[in-house]
Amino acid sequence: MKRMILIGGGIILTAAAIFLWAQSRQTSWSEAEVVTLKSLWIGSLPALPPDPSNLYADNSRAAEFGQKLFFDTRLSSNGEVACATCHKPELMFSDGLPLAQGVGTTSRKTMTIIGTAYSPWMFWDGRKDSQWAQALGPLESAVEHGGTRAQYAHLIDEVYRAEYESIFGSLPDFSDRARFPEVAAPVDDESARAAWDAMTQADRDAVTQVYVNMGKAIAAYERLIMPAPSRFDTYVEALLKDDKTAMKAALTSDEVAGLRLFIDRAQCINCHNGPLFTNNDFHNTGVPAANDLPADDGRATGARNVLNDEFNCLSQWSDAGENDCAELRYIVSEGHQLDGAFKPPTLRNVAETGPYMHAGQIATLAEVIRHYRSAPIAPVGHSELVMIPFTQIEMAQLEAFLRSLSAGVNAPPELLQAP
Ligand code: HEC
Ligand code: HEC
Repeated sequence: MKRMILIGGGIILTAAAIFLWAQSRQTSWSEAEVVTLKSLWIGSLPALPPDPSNLYADNSRAAEFGQKLFFDTRLSSNGEVACATCHKPELMFSDGLPLAQGVGTTSRKTMTIIGTAYSPWMFWDGRKDSQWAQALGPLESAVEHGGTRAQYAHLIDEVYRAEYESIFGSLPDFSDRARFPEVAAPVDDESARAAWDAMTQADRDAVTQVYVNMGKAIAAYERLIMPAPSRFDTYVEALLKDDKTAMKAALTSDEVAGLRLFIDRAQCINCHNGPLFTNNDFHNTGVPAANDLPADDGRATGARNVLNDEFNCLSQWSDAGENDCAELRYIVSEGHQLDGAFKPPTLRNVAETGPYMHAGQIATLAEVIRHYRSAPIAPVGHSELVMIPFTQIEMAQLEAFLRSLSAGVNAPPELLQAP
């Protein structure tokens, strides 16, 4: 009997020891892991890289002007659409919709603009190589703002002349409607294009120059919109100081377990790395095609488009010097790996920016994680994912970790509304 109690006690003691060992394993990090965690920390965000293609990128008056343009619904064919219609500050500069709604419906999900000044490529397919060139896309898209550059030049002429001139120098007189029609641009719309083709090259250039400067001002504004430090960042800061109490206060044990999966077995970090949780490259993750939309080959077309873009870093409208534009010069523009590849979005504030993926195909974070568990066959090209057999508990932990990345925007409140 005595012996039985002794053996029983031994088993209990051993079990307790294993339990404690497992616990300590879960809360301590190896040196290599600490290096990885530090690389994800917001404190590791380098200084904002300069944008040599935009002389006004860091001009504070250009940023003020850009903020006005960002919120101005007169920049549209129906007077109702501004950048902020889809990039709503209160929704982390996204819109909560699967497909963005401007004057029409687009074929992609609105991305956040927070922190995108760090990204060498804009859009899910990277078809633009700067924020200013990006801004000029939606303004002339038939389903977004629906306007034309001639219309916008008239608006600047009539509403923003003094402010424009104080930043960019003299603005031509656009009042002669015979020379400068109300609606004219090199777009798909036949009458707008015909009006554009009828203008002299010099007049077209005068209009395009104003249009380009509008983009450069908007980019100067967007460069100020950065993510705020989250509980995850507080945790890493505490870890680096070896402050166990502060670590415990920052993340729950489930969130820490989710973080461990994220950087380890789940391999999320292969693509979602760096302080913005994106490598800004293009990957095929086999996201199912969106209902009723044609197949989307992502970067394959995006790479061609950026090379041919009227406003790219090497264009006449760019301020870049001869040795700039390395990203564009060394672009990978061919290869099967581009088929169906998209840019991994930042995961900062991801709990606030659903639905998810390039066409809003996945409604919730829980479903996103199920997608990574099952790694389905890609509708276009080949998925890079491998199946990862998460348990239910692990999926919940991973989701809990993703939710710990929400902290909003790091910018003064006056930047987050119409000025
Ligand atoms: C109709 C809604 C809508 C409007 C209006 C709109 N956007 Fe977007 N925005 C989107 C969508 C959708 C995407 C992704 C599109 C794609 O990849 O094809 C996007 C992508 C972006 C990106 C790329 C972010 C990244 O990580 O690559 C930036 C920056 C951006 N928009 C800024 C702007 C600015 C500036 C304006 C105003 C000039 C604007 N948007 C107007 C819906 C909109
Ligand atoms: C091979 C690269 C790669 C890996 C590995 C990867 N992702 Fe992604 N992730 C992407 C890409 C690319 C997208 C956008 C795909 C699309 O829209 O088609 C994305 C999208 C997401 C989104 C949606 C974000 C949004 O705003 O729409 C979440 C959340 C996400 N990933 C989390 C994770 C997690 C969690 C893991 C690990 C289990 C992971 N990712 C592993 C590349 C990757």
